Amino acid sequence: MARVDPHSYFDDAQPRTRSWRLRLRADFERRVLGGEATMVFDSPAKGTLDLDTKGLSVERAVTDAGAPVPFELGPEEPILGRRLRLSFPPGTKSVTLTYETSPAAAGLQWLSPEQTEGKRLPFLFSQCQAIHARSVLPCQDSAIARVSYAAEVNVPEGLTAVMGAGPEGDAPAEAGRRTFKFRMPQPIPSYLFALAVGELEGRDLSHRCRVWAEPATIAAAAWEFAGTESMIARAEALFGPYDWDRYDMLVLPPSFPYGGMENPRMTFLTPTVLAGDRSLVDVVAHELAHSWTGNLVSNATAEHFWLNEGFTVWAERRILKALHGEEAAALAWGIGQRELEEALERFHDKPELTRLRTRLEGIDPDDAFSVVPYEKGARFVVALERAAGEEAFDRFVKSYMKAFRFQSVTTERFCAFVESSFPGLLAQVDAPAWLDQPGLPESAPRFVSARLEELTGLARSWRTAPATGDAAMAKWRPDEILVFLQQLPRELGPEDCARLDAALSLTGRGNYEILTAWLCLASANGYEPAYERARLLLMRVGRMKYVRPLYQALGKTPSGRALARQVFAEAAPSYHALTRRAAGAVMAQYPA
Ligand code: BES
Ligand code: ZN
Repeated sequence: MARVDPHSYFDDAQPRTRSWRLRLRADFERRVLGGEATMVFDSPAKGTLDLDTKGLSVERAVTDAGAPVPFELGPEEPILGRRLRLSFPPGTKSVTLTYETSPAAAGLQWLSPEQTEGKRLPFLFSQCQAIHARSVLPCQDSAIARVSYAAEVNVPEGLTAVMGAGPEGDAPAEAGRRTFKFRMPQPIPSYLFALAVGELEGRDLSHRCRVWAEPATIAAAAWEFAGTESMIARAEALFGPYDWDRYDMLVLPPSFPYGGMENPRMTFLTPTVLAGDRSLVDVVAHELAHSWTGNLVSNATAEHFWLNEGFTVWAERRILKALHGEEAAALAWGIGQRELEEALERFHDKPELTRLRTRLEGIDPDDAFSVVPYEKGARFVVALERAAGEEAFDRFVKSYMKAFRFQSVTTERFCAFVESSFPGLLAQVDAPAWLDQPGLPESAPRFVSARLEELTGLARSWRTAPATGDAAMAKWRPDEILVFLQQLPRELGPEDCARLDAALSLTGRGNYEILTAWLCLASANGYEPAYERARLLLMRVGRMKYVRPLYQALGKTPSGRALARQVFAEAAPSYHALTRRAAGAVMAQYPA
């Protein structure tokens, strides 16, 4: 018997679940999802099966033969949740559990109508990565245990259910309810299980790509993502054929805690990417690229998260380079570099979390999360790419995808594959330093761009430069503005802030990367004219990438802290559990 994932009770010596059959009902009044989850085994099994659960109440378990299955819920562990141990007789083909989620399930958010764009109907969405699937359904919640599934989801009439799966039609159920059917034929890790229910409308973007959103948002979403099909074509050139049939996207209400989530066949997206000028569609390039790096070939556990995210950032920037040229890609690398430096700074007392290969026994993956596996990981991939040569590396990436299709891999297996493809390459780039040492190796790839240097120079000397030069700034592209804001001195006076806002119209920006970078800078300097916009953002948006640094920046001054406390008291009940926890942790560090 062996547990192989520090975040799961999954035991690779026990019967392996091959697929799930789910019959679920969304109860918006009680805020619970419940019904039947059937675990179908590889081959007729017997003995003990340990499943992960968190906050689930399990009513009953029976075999396919109708025999009751004794089960036992272990004690609540703060990170893992409760182990559900089932014991069943020989010849058992499947076990069906009748269960319900808790209203506080971390993997689900139940929104009131007021929290949606349409304000008429409630909304439900899941977010299972890294280890929240167990709060949605009992399962072997490890990426090593892949499953296919079929699902029926019963929801109130008027709402539409979508999943990270293939739709198989819908039909009226009992009075006032409708059942939506889905099938996910490809085996996926549990963290890619995804469901959303709301007032939704779909708009086709190509023969295999459709965007879903609330009716009030659908037109803007269809416009913003019109270029998705050409991204799919680019990604296929890079990685090989798209293996998931359709690539659809869902724009969620603003409380969605991430920028995007690569749920198979249905990327989930924050509405903050709807900048109105397509300037944030690299999030789509990123989630799309996960269809290969992450979904086709998955990290085996959260300790190998860089294999998902580092590769995907690398891919995202290759797509960007192909679509928008070398300079746009170089600016993206430059922006990432600054974010990486800040994260390395933030984790200076936890250097072990800045390795690529991490040890996460006893550590919540949500607490280990940072841009390090993204930006350091992507730089490691570039180091390999440069050492191998771009063409040879592209061939390697395709063969890596082919060799590990629908499998979950560790850093060690990846390294063995690199070694067999390019003997000596790992040593040449000093892979051990990248993988097992904290921080960024001295030899890390650099990305040079004349424009990046120019903007950096302008930013560093801007405070003392004559304001007449500001006129040109109004014409800058969004990524140029972002580089400039990142490189400005951190300390600005109220006149500087006013001048900056006037030159770049920052407070009114629809691009949330720019808007938050500005609000953080202004708030950290106690610039009160920006507070109202900061308050509005924190009341509306749940994306942790924006909420966390903004609370952090407000914490720097007494007036900012007062605002933060007031907003948090008001907004916390409507935040996603993850956002509430992240913001709360930041505020707990405020001086009294
Ligand atoms: N898979 C991640 C989101 C995630 C990571 C959710 C870990 C839960 C745990 C997704 O692909 C992602 O990286 N999103 C980024 C987008 C960006 C890098 C373009 C985000 O949300 O900001
Ligand atoms: Zn990602």
